[in-house]
Amino acid sequence: MTAHPETRIRSADGALEAAFVPSLAMLGSSLTAGGAQLVDQRGGVEAYAERGSTMGIPLLHPWANRIARPEYRVGEHEVRVDIASPLVHTDGNGLAIHGCHPAAMPFAIADHDDAGLTAVLDTAVAPSVLELFPFPHRLTMEARLNGSALRITSTLEATGDAAVPVAFGHHPYLHLPDIPAEVPGGSASALLPILHHIQDALGFVPPALVPEIAAALSLSRAEVHGVITYYHHFRSAPAGRHVVQICQAEACRANGAEALMAHAAARLACAPGATRADGGLTLEPVYCLGLCATGPAAMIDGQLRARVSAATVDILAARFEGDAP
Ligand code: FES
Repeated sequence: MTAHPETRIRSADGALEAAFVPSLAMLGSSLTAGGAQLVDQRGGVEAYAERGSTMGIPLLHPWANRIARPEYRVGEHEVRVDIASPLVHTDGNGLAIHGCHPAAMPFAIADHDDAGLTAVLDTAVAPSVLELFPFPHRLTMEARLNGSALRITSTLEATGDAAVPVAFGHHPYLHLPDIPAEVPGGSASALLPILHHIQDALGFVPPALVPEIAAALSLSRAEVHGVITYYHHFRSAPAGRHVVQICQAEACRANGAEALMAHAAARLACAPGATRADGGLTLEPVYCLGLCATGPAAMIDGQLRARVSAATVDILAARFEGDAP
């Protein structure tokens, strides 16, 4: 018997099946439609248990993204995180990311039927979490397969005197079912790498290349065009000499990202999503740069910046004016 057993659920028509691992922070370890796996297995459940290597649909709790330094403040509450603790994941820069190690967050199954599962994490039962996040709480997760959807509902309740800050989230690693090998001319799964390669080389994906790419991959032009326009990352025209990207996703919006974008548009004389007529600058909205706890976040000429303010934009505007061609 495995050390981390899965609990399975199945939609009423049998088309969708999912598996969760309650002992590992309710990891969603599998989601299949008609037998085809829809989430990336990456290193598998054991790697997640041993090293916290994410896969499937992990719950990143008590915080999803990285925290900028070993201490953080919530209201009057100062918390120091022991970066060396085995409970902590760190990124390549030594910053704590993805919250607590999943093995320290065992959920207890409260309810289970064919199509649904409810499980509870209570810090009274899993006190290790409080070493990183001293806010007693109970987190209830219901996973249910309904029609063609998996719905996960999370409910957080404070169980102590302190209010509990919410910074957790799920990070699904979605995986397209395999494209049959007999697709003539190659696999559609090559499309994204090809587009990345072209953009890396040219700075954009020229519309004139769309028919060639489509023919090479046996796709329609509309399919290729649809992928280019779906992902904000791809451009169909050359960018300006400077590229300013300002995050407009939820966490940054809560910290004033909309007003910051409006200020940038006025100060840099460039509409969001456009390149200035003089070719000096492109201003783009982007949707999450991974600095959610320190927003508003921006990427300026490829460099990530946290806590960007109107004053930062003013400094940039002056600097960009100084290096006009
Ligand atoms: S919401 Fe994640 S960086 Fe802005």
